Amino acid sequence: MLPKILENRDGELQIDGVSNIELAKKYGTPLYVMSESVIREKYRNMFHAMSSKYQKIRIFYAAKANTSLSVLRILRDEGAYVDSVSPGEVFLALKSGFPSEKILFTGTSVTDDELRFLLNSGVKINIDSISELRRLLKMVTPDFISIRVNPEIGAGHHEHVITAGKQSKFGLWEDDLLKAYEIARAHGVRQFGLHMHIGSGVLNIEPFALAVERLLQIGKRVHDTLNISFDLVDIGGGFGVPYRPEEKALDIGLFSDKILSLIKQRLKEYGLGEPTLGFEPGRYIVAEAGILLSAVNTIKTTPFKKYAGIDAGFNTLIRPAMYGSYHHIVVANRMNESPCEVYDIAGPLCESGDILGRDRRLPELQEADLLAILNAGAYGFSMSSQYNSRPRPAEILVNRGKHALVRGRETLEDLLTGQEFAPWLK
Ligand SMILES: Cc1ncc(COP(=O)(O)O)c(C=O)c1O
Repeated sequence: MLPKILENRDGELQIDGVSNIELAKKYGTPLYVMSESVIREKYRNMFHAMSSKYQKIRIFYAAKANTSLSVLRILRDEGAYVDSVSPGEVFLALKSGFPSEKILFTGTSVTDDELRFLLNSGVKINIDSISELRRLLKMVTPDFISIRVNPEIGAGHHEHVITAGKQSKFGLWEDDLLKAYEIARAHGVRQFGLHMHIGSGVLNIEPFALAVERLLQIGKRVHDTLNISFDLVDIGGGFGVPYRPEEKALDIGLFSDKILSLIKQRLKEYGLGEPTLGFEPGRYIVAEAGILLSAVNTIKTTPFKKYAGIDAGFNTLIRPAMYGSYHHIVVANRMNESPCEVYDIAGPLCESGDILGRDRRLPELQEADLLAILNAGAYGFSMSSQYNSRPRPAEILVNRGKHALVRGRETLEDLLTGQEFAPWLK
């Protein structure tokens, strides 16, 4: 079953009314293609689900999933806020038109230079350590500070993306958290946020429920001990999407029913008032909006396997190599043909791990066929690299039959950026 934005039109895969074959011809491959309609629809789904249960909500789009200026601009137009984790993400969010008040920075191992950049930019800061807090307070007393809690419960599609619990470097544990709020208050900070982010790619509700319980218990202790109220309670992102055809989507309506009821109940019970609730979806909004188009260049058979060699590798999409992630792959120019062969889909990098899909049943492939790697809109381009000195791909935005180049393909010249010969080698 194809996501509804993708359509089989006479054996050719279309995205949002645009032929992928035409896109590949016009812009070349590998090529990221993002659908504006899907981004808007996913943002609205989440906004409606959350705002139907609680009045004061903010959706902070987690820019790390996809920092394309066009994607950011679409979300700015939708009314989103931004969750950023680096000065680079703040810079791009500002360039795409977000006002600084709508940007929240949640870093880790943050330097003084970065803190100065954030203060000059006027964004809001979510603190990840007492060290960061003390250094920030030496520079200025901000009106508002949010602090990231480790709620002791983490979750995620892979151990590398679990961002809470005993093995996690993120957030403050309860006792340090109390100290941090006390230090901030003693310096004259008057408005506070309470934040957590448990991990990424979570498809069930239970871990959120457990972590929210813990977050609010800790929030109550801060409130009772220090008489601090929260303007913002931010439960982070991590809302998963199905990558395998048999996986079930996270029911965001059910999520809001269960989790927002729980939050409302605990806020009331603990006397925490009615803070703004924050959510930080990245993957949920953009993963299903994007595909990666890649051309087959080589068909190769060994005594053990059949390989289809393509022009995208883990330099283009690292998720399969880094996390063992599955991305569904279809043959964009043979949509009416039945699967009859099993292939490993191999990239062009000199690493055995450069495989984008293993044991895929597909129609018989030929050189110059076009593969579409689905659900590639999140952590695709934003995690790409120039490894093996391969320039990064281009990116296209499509919307109801229209298409535009929104990021040009890098050239060999881009491999020289910032480089020069040491003077004694000139
Ligand atoms: C602080 C924070 N918020 C939100 C996110 C977004 O996660 P996801 O794309 O899984 O929603 C992340 C991802 O790592 C994060 O670190």
